[in-house]
Amino acid sequence: MSNRLQNKVAIITGAAQGIGFACARQCAAEGAAVVLADIQKDRGEQAAAAIRNEGGRASFHPVDVRDESQCAALVDHAIRTHEKLDGLVNNAGWFPRATLEQTTTDLWEEVLHVNLRSAFYCCKYSVPKMREARGGSIVNMGSICGIQSLPNLVAYGAAKGGLLSLTRTLAGALAEHRIRVNYVIPGWVFTEGELAIQKGEGRTPDDLRKAGEKLAFGRAQTPQETAYAVVYLLSDESAQVTGTTLHLDAGASTLPIQSGTYPG
Ligand SMILES: NC(=O)c1ccc[n+]([C@@H]2O[C@H](COP(=O)([O-])OP(=O)(O)OC[C@H]3O[C@@H](n4cnc5c(N)ncnc54)[C@H](O)[C@@H]3O)[C@@H](O)[C@H]2O)c1
Repeated sequence: MSNRLQNKVAIITGAAQGIGFACARQCAAEGAAVVLADIQKDRGEQAAAAIRNEGGRASFHPVDVRDESQCAALVDHAIRTHEKLDGLVNNAGWFPRATLEQTTTDLWEEVLHVNLRSAFYCCKYSVPKMREARGGSIVNMGSICGIQSLPNLVAYGAAKGGLLSLTRTLAGALAEHRIRVNYVIPGWVFTEGELAIQKGEGRTPDDLRKAGEKLAFGRAQTPQETAYAVVYLLSDESAQVTGTTLHLDAGASTLPIQSGTYPG
């Protein structure tokens, strides 16, 4: 246990597994009280219990981030439990592969709802509490798709591009309240969600290892690498950092994309 987030309270959405869980675990290890929020109730409870077993302060609150009232209730829960809110990580996401032709209106709406409107809801209800506390830090889980085209992630790219725009807009709007808003690009991470999609497309773990070897630093990224960045952005070490995009993608966004090798 370290103390870079001592006395801080943070909500992390989509924290039952994958990148969100790694962030919650690392934040707790750095002394934060963490509220894990997720639509998966059993898995979320288990995730929070695992962090508590390691000595961290963690609780689980079930939420469907597509629902405004549930996002409001999530923030209320954090305030009732911990009396303040310092950090919000908008991490819950969904990234089904679909080209323009494959993207139905319903899929478009759903992808934007899960990945973008959810962050708007969580910011909307968190910001007044952060303002009362005279400061806060919001981290939006972005993607290379938010800045660069990937042909089979059309709606997701639009959602993550919107999230980047929301990040920059709120960073400017909230600076006078010392509420910082930043955007993180995790690279390519073989989380439960990503592995399920890859398996559905017929790729084996060996295929993925080989695809990772084609990336600039010779491997895919890990959930833990994103967690380190999130700790930094929630901590006072980044007190002057807002409106920024932090790349954890081994420079992928600076390189030409070879179609099929970098799924986003
Ligand atoms: N894995 C990658 O390569 C990668 C790359 C770039 C960005 N990202 C982003 O990182 C974030 C986490 O992705 P991951 O790879 O850990 O995915 P994951 O599918 O393993 O985990 C996503 C979590 O979000 C939760 N979630 C989904 N819809 C929800 C809803 N409506 N309400 C509440 N919770 C919900 C899921 O239950 C799950 O626990 C996402 O925003 C994703 O876009 C992932």
